[in-house]
Amino acid sequence: MASHVRPVSTQLYSANHSRLLRGGYDFSGTASVKCSPHQKRRVISMSHNEHGPSVAVVGVTGAVGQEFLSVLSERNFPYRSMKLLASKRSAGKHITFEGEEMVVEELTENSFHGIDIALFSAGGSISKKFGPLAVDQGTIVVDNSSAFRMDEGIPLVIPEVNLNAMDHIKVNNKKGGLIANPNCSTIICLMAVTPLHRHSRVKRMVVSTYQAASGAGAAAMAELEQQTREVLDGKPPTCNIFKRQYAFNLFSHNSSLMENGYNEEEMKLVKETRKIWNDPAVKVTATCIRVPVMRAHAESINLEFEEPLDEDSARELLRKAAGVVVVDDRQANNFPTPLEVSNRDDVAVGRVRRDISQEGNKGLDIFVCGDQIRKGAALNAVQIAEKLL
Ligand SMILES: NC(=O)c1ccc[n+]([C@@H]2O[C@H](COP(=O)([O-])OP(=O)(O)OC[C@H]3O[C@@H](n4cnc5c(N)ncnc54)[C@H](OP(=O)(O)O)[C@@H]3O)[C@@H](O)[C@H]2O)c1
Repeated sequence: MASHVRPVSTQLYSANHSRLLRGGYDFSGTASVKCSPHQKRRVISMSHNEHGPSVAVVGVTGAVGQEFLSVLSERNFPYRSMKLLASKRSAGKHITFEGEEMVVEELTENSFHGIDIALFSAGGSISKKFGPLAVDQGTIVVDNSSAFRMDEGIPLVIPEVNLNAMDHIKVNNKKGGLIANPNCSTIICLMAVTPLHRHSRVKRMVVSTYQAASGAGAAAMAELEQQTREVLDGKPPTCNIFKRQYAFNLFSHNSSLMENGYNEEEMKLVKETRKIWNDPAVKVTATCIRVPVMRAHAESINLEFEEPLDEDSARELLRKAAGVVVVDDRQANNFPTPLEVSNRDDVAVGRVRRDISQEGNKGLDIFVCGDQIRKGAALNAVQIAEKLL
């Protein structure tokens, strides 16, 4: 490795970052046992397999791109070859993947020859330009941006919720295709709410989010850390990513505001829920807030049901749901936290309680935390890729 090249993974996740980002429940049980904050489940494995698909990761130097590599490795995703793509700025940088030092290539129109599956996380404009190009070359694109989510005919998939939407797309068909990963807040919300919806049908859902820096990418995480130091040192905070002070503050989500007064993030929750549930009638409203948490989103969700659902039955449905863990210990006042779901696959649900403002058992409040780089982005996309094989 040339001496001036610093491995990308160490740029993004300094030891200090890692300490801030790790937490953990013992997810083997229902709840409150904590494991060491320094424990990480990273496993180095060799998934290289001549019969596996050829894979490309687009945006590999970003927060989601780096997580793609961790998740692919941890889940032993089989691959014949792995291509790492980012912008011209990163071309030539070295990344160690499964013990092998690999060189990042610049994304170009020729990047997809012979690629079976491409995991995209380089922003909407890149997806719009290169996604269809890749599909034309026979690649199946799993896209993390919002570029195609609401397009008719493009499956918008959370594997635990609506896997059937992508039944017709498989690597063996030797045809290109595009599958969209939903917005991270939508994934975390629907992972928790769908098991309840299947039982009692949600009529109306009110979501309030508490969203972490990581949702805005690696640079936003670095800025939160930098601002925190600056404020503690009595210096003015550097505001490059967000327009205002983020450390020791919170503010309305930074996505664009629309004519109806909602921001784009809020409308994604509304529209994507309807598409994923295939239920245009479901009523959804949301308020999305950015909070100075490094990693993992939290959401307070109020539900109104068509059929009654009591607290105990709701907890039971959630305990049985794949990818969900119940953390709901009222006696110990122990409920989900972003820190404790960071670097975890499961979405944690707690504060399960009857909404006293609604009649009978027709309303519930829940509080949900999920690692949005992981289940909200990389893990969900890799689960989709697994189903393509
Ligand atoms: N962060 C999340 O939790 C999350 C969740 C769901 C979805 N997403 C979506 O995933 C995408 C990436 O998010 P992120 O948080 O990972 O952002 P990020 O940390 O800022 O990373 C952006 C990535 O895109 C690459 N890129 C930028 N311009 C490019 C170009 N012209 N050609 C090729 N690659 C280019 C960057 O490469 P360089 O390093 O070379 O610039 C970097 O690898 C966005 O669409 C975002 O909405 C993010």
